[in-house]
Amino acid sequence: PRHTVPPAAGAGLVVVANRLPVSLEEDGTDGGRRRWRRSPGGLVNALEPFLRTQRGAWVGWPGTAKAGGTPARAWRHDGLLLYPVALTADEVDGFYEGFSNATLWPLYHDVIMPPRYRRSWWDAYVHVNRKFAQATADISARGATVWVQDYQLQLVPAMLRELRPDLRIGFFLHIPFPPVELFMQVPWRTELIQGLLGADLIGFHRPGGARNFQWLARRLAGVREERAVSDVGDEPGLLGVAESPAGRRTVKVGAFPISIDAADLDRLARRADVQRRAEQIRAQLGNPRKIVLGVDRLDYTKGIDIRLRALHELLAEGRVTAETTTMVQIATPSRERVEHYLRMREDIERTVGRINGEFGRVGHPAVHYLHTSVGREELAALYRAADVMLVTPLRDGMNLVAKEYVACRHDLQGALVLSEFAGAAAELTSAFQVNPYHLEEVKSGLEKALTISRAEAGRRMGALRAQVLTHDVGHWAQSFLSTLEDRTPVGEPVRQT
Ligand code: ADP
Ligand code: G6P
Repeated sequence: PRHTVPPAAGAGLVVVANRLPVSLEEDGTDGGRRRWRRSPGGLVNALEPFLRTQRGAWVGWPGTAKAGGTPARAWRHDGLLLYPVALTADEVDGFYEGFSNATLWPLYHDVIMPPRYRRSWWDAYVHVNRKFAQATADISARGATVWVQDYQLQLVPAMLRELRPDLRIGFFLHIPFPPVELFMQVPWRTELIQGLLGADLIGFHRPGGARNFQWLARRLAGVREERAVSDVGDEPGLLGVAESPAGRRTVKVGAFPISIDAADLDRLARRADVQRRAEQIRAQLGNPRKIVLGVDRLDYTKGIDIRLRALHELLAEGRVTAETTTMVQIATPSRERVEHYLRMREDIERTVGRINGEFGRVGHPAVHYLHTSVGREELAALYRAADVMLVTPLRDGMNLVAKEYVACRHDLQGALVLSEFAGAAAELTSAFQVNPYHLEEVKSGLEKALTISRAEAGRRMGALRAQVLTHDVGHWAQSFLSTLEDRTPVGEPVRQT
C-alpha cells in the first residue's frame, strides 16, 4: 500500500544513514550504565556539521540492540532532529555485522578479506533496509529531499521511491565502488543495482566508481546510458531507467569527493591551548626528534600492520633509531564482534609488543599504541605534534584523516605519507605517495618524510593546504545537493546567467 503523505510539518531535508551521529554505548561497569557518544567514522564527522547548519533531520540506528536502550521517539540534538530506527540483536547480527560488514565491506574494499555470502544475512539486509525506508517515509515532508548514505542502505532508494514517489532521493556511497569483476560475485547483484537506481542522483568519491556502476546498471538492469561519466568537469553521467507506465526516468551518476570542515579545524589547530597541548605531548613522549603518527578506526583496510612492519624493518636495519623517533598509533575500537576485526587486533597488538620488546627502553617505548578514540582538541594537538603522518590503507574510499592532518598544519611543517589507494591520493598529490603492498616503498617513503628539509616540507604542505582549504565539506554537500535538485531537462543546454 502507498504511504499517506504526511503533513507539511515533516522534515524537508532528511539524511538517512545506518548510524545516528551519536551512539549509545555501555560504559563497561557492572550496572551497565549507558551514555551517548559521538559515532565513529568519517561519514558522521563530515556530514553532521553540515546538516546542523541546515537544521535537517537524521534517520539512523542508535548503535545498540539492547531492549529498552533505544529511545522510541525523535529528539533534538544540537540543532538536528534525530529519528531512531531500533534494531533487534538478530538484525544487528545479520544486517550490520553480517551482510554490511562481512559481505559488502570486504567486497567493496578489493576483497582484502574474503567476503562471505550468506542467504540469511541477505534476508536481514532486505528487511532492515525496508525498516529504514518506512521510517524515512513516515517523517519526510511532501516533496522533501532525502539523502541516503552508504553501503548499509543500498536498497533504500528504490524502496523509498515505491512508498513516496513525491520525494527527491539522493544516494552517496562513502566507500569505494568495486571493479565490475568483483561486484559480479554477489549473488544479489541485480537487486543491489536496482535498489540504487531508485535514486535521482547516485554519488561516488571517484569517477572510476561511477563508471563501474554505469556499466553494471547497463549490464544487470538493462538501463540505457544517455551520457557517460567523464573524468573532467562536473557534469554527471545519465542513465535512462524505463518505468511503466510513467515512461522513462533519468538517474544521474557522478563523482563527488568528500572533504572536511577545513576552516574549522584550521581555527582549532591555531588555538593557543591546542598548541600548548601539542608541546606537552612532545614533552610527555620524551621530546624525540621525530614523532610519527597513525590515527584510524581499527580496520584491516587501513594498513596499520603495514606501517608497523615498515617501522620495524627500518629500526632493525638501523635506518631509524628509537632514540630519535617515536611512533604513536591511536586506533578507535570498531566492529569488534566481526571475526576479521578480532584477528587483526590481535595481530597488531602482537607486532607492537614485538617492536617495543626489541627496540624500546624503560620509559621509552618505540611505539605508543592506544586502543581508544580521542576528542577533537586532542586529535588536533596530536596532528600538530606529528612530524610525519602515516596513512597507509590498502583501499579507502577517501580517508579524511589525511585531509585533517593537512588542515592542522598552518605552520607549513610536517610530512604526509599517503597510500595511492586512498581516494584522497587523487587530490593530495604533494604527499609522499606509496604503494602499501610494496613494503620497501613504504619504508623509503617514511624515511624520506623523516629526513625532509624545512623548505621542502613547506613547499609540499603549502600545495596540500591549497587543495584542502578550498575544497571543504560544505562545497561537497552543496555540489551534491544542487546536482540532485537540478531538474534541467536532459538534452537542453544549461542557460548561463
Ligand atoms: P573511516 O570513515 O573509514 O573511519 P576516515 O579517515 O575517512 O575513515 O574518517 C575517520 C574519522 O574518524 C576522521 O574524522 C578521524 O578524525 C576520526 N578518527 C579516526 N580515528 C580516531 C581516533 N582514534 N580518535 C578520534 N577520532 C578518530
Ligand atoms: C565508515 C563507513 C560508515 C561507518 C563508519 C564507522 O566511515 O563508511 O558508514 O558508519 O565507517 O563504522 P561503524 O560500523 O562503526 O558504523
